[in-house]
Amino acid sequence: MSVEQLEGTQERGPEPEPLLDFPLSRRGDVLPEECSWLREKAPVARVRTLTGDPAWLVSSYALAKQVLEDERFSLKDTANAGVPRQYALTIPPEVVNNMGNINSAGLRNAVMKALNPRQKGLQDFLRATAGELIEALVAEGGPADLRTGFADPFSAALHCQVLGVPFEDWRRLMSGLDVAFMTAREPFADSALNWYKDVGYFADAFKAQLARTAEERTGLLGKFAGLREADPESAHLTDEMFATVAVSLFGAGAVSTSAFLVLAVLALLQRPELIGYLREHPERMGAAVDELLRWNLSVGDGLPRLAMADVQVGDVLVKEGELVLVLLEGANFDPEAFERPDELDLERKSANAHLAFGAGRHFCPASALGRAHAEIALEVLVERLPDLRLAVPAENLVWRTGFIKRLPERLPVAWQ
Ligand code: HEM
Repeated sequence: MSVEQLEGTQERGPEPEPLLDFPLSRRGDVLPEECSWLREKAPVARVRTLTGDPAWLVSSYALAKQVLEDERFSLKDTANAGVPRQYALTIPPEVVNNMGNINSAGLRNAVMKALNPRQKGLQDFLRATAGELIEALVAEGGPADLRTGFADPFSAALHCQVLGVPFEDWRRLMSGLDVAFMTAREPFADSALNWYKDVGYFADAFKAQLARTAEERTGLLGKFAGLREADPESAHLTDEMFATVAVSLFGAGAVSTSAFLVLAVLALLQRPELIGYLREHPERMGAAVDELLRWNLSVGDGLPRLAMADVQVGDVLVKEGELVLVLLEGANFDPEAFERPDELDLERKSANAHLAFGAGRHFCPASALGRAHAEIALEVLVERLPDLRLAVPAENLVWRTGFIKRLPERLPVAWQ
């Protein structure tokens, strides 16, 4: 598709032809080439999704924010039967309304407390865990895979701690997400088996918390056990409902934190001077992580919304019932919103109002926890392994396909 062919595509004819297929490239280290021409020539572009359905891809900062903040664009309703889809559902449709379900079950306060990075002992636990994982890698010797040796277990450890399940189960929990977050053309039966396997696991973990004394209980499931016993408002909630909250939080958080961390580390490995900079300036880690969040391409699909009414978005009148996909890298690399967007500038001065955590009603409820997770991981990593480097050519990284995140299957590193 050439730029010339794109001219004049914004009028709403009878049924606009798709400009291109979505998703874009799966590489997480190179901004997809379509990004800037889409933003300039067709910031609300007709695309064809994996399922063959039409959708509007929104790629400028201003329009992305407009869609995310306008409640006439619904996330929950993207799970309805018969609507255009980005990919087949691999989780039960009602789970798409993740935070909405938590709110209506009266569990918002308990969940938000569990997601608070300043809760007692959590940051010390994370620092100690990061240190132990790195010691284990050093003992094994490099090259080693930083994803399975560090980013995955570190992210899983945070979630096991916050939810109240044993860390030793991290591998089986993470491997469930390999299936739950697949993007498939057609529904497949065993996605349900995968989901209910994890619901069963967390229901057993909830029962184990119930069997403990109040003092022995841990994490959000421990808190839920207390609510079951003492809070009449929660008495109607079944074990399965509590377990579903835990499965969906583990799912929403563990892949997001690990994929972001892997891509943030890769961006630093490709600019070794930045590792030295972060080592010398640990106090600037907060701003650096925000810039890495703006820069990161880990969200590989579009944030989906279903139009509940006819709404004008830029030059396009989006019709009720149509699917809109918000392209985060379109927004986060928009020169109208960020000076020199193509530069990874860890000292970026102006407020870094990126959309890496979304915007509006569905803004990530764990943004502070996500930031703390990455800050601690990077702080420990650059401190313990100052000579960290990519141990293979970047073009030899294997990028996962058919998954909601852009993710290298392995990130081989060395440090000696
Ligand atoms: C660096 C890490 C993270 C990133 C980049 C991230 C990104 C996002 C984004 C972009 C959204 C908005 C989705 C949308 O609008 O459709 C979101 C929502 C959400 N995130 Fe995160 N997230 C991160 C960490 C976490 C963690 C650690 C948890 C929980 C343990 C979590 C739980 C959720 C939940 C439950 C929602 C849905 C909110 C709603 O629908 O109202 N996230 N996240």
